[in-house]
Amino acid sequence: MTNILEGKKGIIFGALDAKSIAWKVAERANEEGAKFVLTNAPVALRMGTIKELGEKCNADIIGADATSVEDLTNLIDQSQEILGGKLDFVLHSIGMSPNVRKGRHYTDLNYDWYHKSLDISAMSFHKLLQVAMEKDAINEWGSVVGLTYIAAQRVFPDYGDMADAKSMLESIARSFGYHYGVKNKVRINTISQSPTATTAGTGVKGFDDFISFADSMSPLGNADALACADYCISMFSDLTRYVTMQNLMHDGGFSNTGVSAALMEKMKG
Ligand SMILES: NC(=O)c1ccc[n+]([C@@H]2O[C@H](COP(=O)([O-])OP(=O)(O)OC[C@H]3O[C@@H](n4cnc5c(N)ncnc54)[C@H](O)[C@@H]3O)[C@@H](O)[C@H]2O)c1
Repeated sequence: MTNILEGKKGIIFGALDAKSIAWKVAERANEEGAKFVLTNAPVALRMGTIKELGEKCNADIIGADATSVEDLTNLIDQSQEILGGKLDFVLHSIGMSPNVRKGRHYTDLNYDWYHKSLDISAMSFHKLLQVAMEKDAINEWGSVVGLTYIAAQRVFPDYGDMADAKSMLESIARSFGYHYGVKNKVRINTISQSPTATTAGTGVKGFDDFISFADSMSPLGNADALACADYCISMFSDLTRYVTMQNLMHDGGFSNTGVSAALMEKMKG
């Protein structure tokens, strides 16, 4: 523990339960001396265990549906009041596809649900950034991180329309990262995480086989939620000030591996 985030203030979206990546980020941010507000959709506040996390981290919890500009405006206003000033970091750890959840094949999408997938998982990132910029809510050198998955670049058939949402999310990080960088030196990146056993992760068909496949294909093995949290903390810190508009692979080497000896062995067995 080095208090790498001492004096920093932030908002953490997406802690549903102790398995959530955002949960681990909150625990690590707390250990590193940050002050922050926790937020999630009102339904998640009712169903999840975020209260426990709030108590542990001494953090207020504000409900906000990330697709609602009104909710996001309220969240940004209230957070600055509670924390006593502008923000230094924001974690967007939000993903949901009704099509994936209800088993709709990519070639047979329900288009209302498709809209929802894109709105919740990608457009919410733009909405959050636009509200923050309008309100000048983020300090210079502040850092915004969104979580993504390699299905944005390569085909993983069971990831369905979430692949499209993640491509859009990564594109928003680049485009908004340009404009926010020029205007206020705010940096925006996405972290592309290994498959991780969380509520969102295990909603994908065949997840158990898949997580083991990815583990065999990664020279370092799959990165877990805690390791992802550590990477987020480094991105919120002042040690990464010139990293912006990037999609950062956090996957134990999976994305640059064509085939691995471990996987070949498994195929033989
Ligand atoms: N688990 C994995 O394998 C994996 C891999 C790569 C990237 N990711 C990404 O990491 C992020 C976090 O997911 P997780 O794996 O921790 O799962 P999780 O289910 O714990 O988190 C997803 C969160 O999104 C929230 N959410 C859904 N709809 C919302 C809305 N309308 N407004 C506000 N919040 C809403 C949920 O309440 C939940 O807290 C997601 O973006 C996910 O796509 C996950």
